[in-house]
Amino acid sequence: MPEIIARTATADYPIFIQQGALDHLGERVAASCQGRRTVIVTDDQVGPLYLERVSASLKAAGFNCGEAIVPAGEGSKNPERLAFLYARFHETGLSRTDPVIALGGGVVGDLAGFAAATWLRGVPLVQVPTTLLAQVDSSVGGKTAIDLPQGKNLVGAFYQPRLVVMDPAVLHTLSRRFMADGMAEVIKYGLIGDEALLDQIEQQAYDLEWVVARCVRSKIAVVARDEKDSGERMLLNFGHTVGHAIEKATGYAAFSHGEAVAVGMVMAAAIGEKLGETDPGTGDRIRRVLEAYQLPVQADVPLQALLPAIFSDKKRLGSRIHYVLLRRPGEAFLKPMTPNELSAVLGEVWPRG
Ligand code: GLY
Repeated sequence: MPEIIARTATADYPIFIQQGALDHLGERVAASCQGRRTVIVTDDQVGPLYLERVSASLKAAGFNCGEAIVPAGEGSKNPERLAFLYARFHETGLSRTDPVIALGGGVVGDLAGFAAATWLRGVPLVQVPTTLLAQVDSSVGGKTAIDLPQGKNLVGAFYQPRLVVMDPAVLHTLSRRFMADGMAEVIKYGLIGDEALLDQIEQQAYDLEWVVARCVRSKIAVVARDEKDSGERMLLNFGHTVGHAIEKATGYAAFSHGEAVAVGMVMAAAIGEKLGETDPGTGDRIRRVLEAYQLPVQADVPLQALLPAIFSDKKRLGSRIHYVLLRRPGEAFLKPMTPNELSAVLGEVWPRG
């Protein structure tokens, strides 16, 4: 059973990856948190599958459990749902030592994480990710946020969890689309820094638990060096500038996060090749692996609809957007570009409808 320790400037915490971990969650949380009240935050798709088991494990370990169930989907990452969580925390009497359990995918992790970061100025957060995307990326590293009408993840906090508990068994019940969603982030980890992982994914010869542990180790290494996203961590957003813009322009409905990032990665390769920064043929390799996992490689959205979100990207520092490009598969770098430079090159590579 891998037990990985994440180390950051603000906190060190364990990440457990263990078959059947959901049934032992209570013991682990009790060992890490003083308080014995908790609220389990989940959504209406994950709740029916795992809430009872998780709640039973926590109760057996002596916890008084409240629950907060939100509708599944990005639409729940909003100020109204955040206020709903605060209300549930208040009703349950959560004090500063009592943990919040985020049981679900990236949406639940981000929303519950931000609520935990801000309730009483911060209560312990336990991430229990149930999707591939959340296991390989969003549950680790401390990014929490909600969306605003102006854009995705615009309000949030860097807030490291007290512990992360992953049960690889939950991945077996995911739909093909949810698996593909997470696989886009796995492919991203391969492309930005781990060509050996990319090779395994291309050959479809991998063990999922190994993939999760490998991505988690990559992520915590980056976060240890740049917790607050001021340099190297921005590389983890490869494909995300255009990806987030696609999600926003299509109302967070037509594309899953991973699907939008897949298109964003193809675009980043096309930009890099056009600018002579990326080895020729990289874009073709990316398209092939994405298609093998039934991920989209283009989006039928006019570029004009994407540009406002692209220009308000959080990787904008001063007048320049720090766009993540590849030198080649396995090596990423930040390319500062003015909005004019970026829209000119995007205009050349974005497929015309
Ligand atoms: N998902 C990118 C990061 O955590 O920095």
